[in-house]
Amino acid sequence: MIELFDRLARPLLYALDPEDAHRLAIRMLQVVSLPPVPPDDTRLATRVFGLNFLNPIGIAAGFDKHAEIPDALMRAGFGFVEVGTVTPLPQLGNPRPRLFRLDADQAVINRLGFNSQGADAVLRRLAARASAGGIVGINVGANKDAPDRVADYVRLIEKFAAVASYVTVNISSPNTPGLRDMQQADVLDDLLARVIDARERVTKNAGPTPVLLKIAPDLSLSDLDDVVGIARARRVNGVIVGNTTVSRPASLRDAQLREAGGLSGRPLLPLADRMLAETYVRVEDAFPLVGAGGIDSGASALGKIRAGASLIQIYSGLVFRGLGLVGEIKRTIVAALERDGAQNLADYVGADAASATAEPWPDQFVRA
Ligand SMILES: Cc1cc2nc3c(=O)[nH]c(=O)nc-3n(C[C@H](O)[C@H](O)[C@H](O)COP(=O)(O)O)c2cc1C
Repeated sequence: MIELFDRLARPLLYALDPEDAHRLAIRMLQVVSLPPVPPDDTRLATRVFGLNFLNPIGIAAGFDKHAEIPDALMRAGFGFVEVGTVTPLPQLGNPRPRLFRLDADQAVINRLGFNSQGADAVLRRLAARASAGGIVGINVGANKDAPDRVADYVRLIEKFAAVASYVTVNISSPNTPGLRDMQQADVLDDLLARVIDARERVTKNAGPTPVLLKIAPDLSLSDLDDVVGIARARRVNGVIVGNTTVSRPASLRDAQLREAGGLSGRPLLPLADRMLAETYVRVEDAFPLVGAGGIDSGASALGKIRAGASLIQIYSGLVFRGLGLVGEIKRTIVAALERDGAQNLADYVGADAASATAEPWPDQFVRA
């Protein structure tokens, strides 16, 4: 059924401007009620930051920014859905066009700039589906014109802790000027101190809500040392590695490669995997990692887990491969487990991290 949906939808979606296609895809998933996929093989189940996932494959932030279709996405086979980025107040984001499909490279460039319907609209939707179950996290960001960006994150944690399975603090979008500077040590330490404090304050009523940090793949390794040190000291529950890159690997061929914004999809994979492995060796099991960036096949998903991810997230791969990608990834992981006689994913997580960090830096990515 998912394959049929993909096959019917693809030509239509490809004929449209990418942002219109995305809106239509959301509408279709709202209207067409896909039958749920068969239950997952129990060996795919995993417990990460205190939550029980039926499978480790999530949809990354940015696809369902306004929490319009989390349950349809769960039915399509995802083990978790990350909605957002949501900002406290509604904002339009950057002028269109701001989303580009690089077909020749199986990549996407976006400079959406946190277009958000705002926290109230998203909160209403999440509250209305709260009893539906499933793991739905929320990714939060600051308004572009916020006088105190840290205060925006604090407000959003307080607001969403009761209705979200976890909250991701997104300080790595390249499309809000100055946002990524919040990854600098002193700013980050203050941010995480206040965010974790807010989480502690609301835990009594909201229950325990894991707080994750989402970082950019463009951090220098010395900045990464700082980020990991602070995340450990402030006891975040996990880190997502990572967001889109502002770099442009030399391999890109599509005419739109010079569009400003964050690059995602297949060309991001080597950089994202390397940064994940670099993060994994620094974290020393203090908390789990979520791997995102460039997954578009079962093999790249398994590679991401071996580089250090306890959970994975996909976005751009769906644009080129459709929802059938989720089933393909599950089949690949189960086949690997069968082959290795393993009971679950645990043995794979980070298995290649140390060796990956000894490799030369991926040569398509010139370090600034
Ligand atoms: C169109 C688009 C919009 C995105 N919006 C967000 C966002 O709002 N918040 C966020 O944290 N990441 C956002 N991302 C980044 C993705 O969540 C993900 O980290 C990145 O695209 C790498 O994964 P991929 O190569 O599988 O796409 C967006 C990505 C794309 C392609």
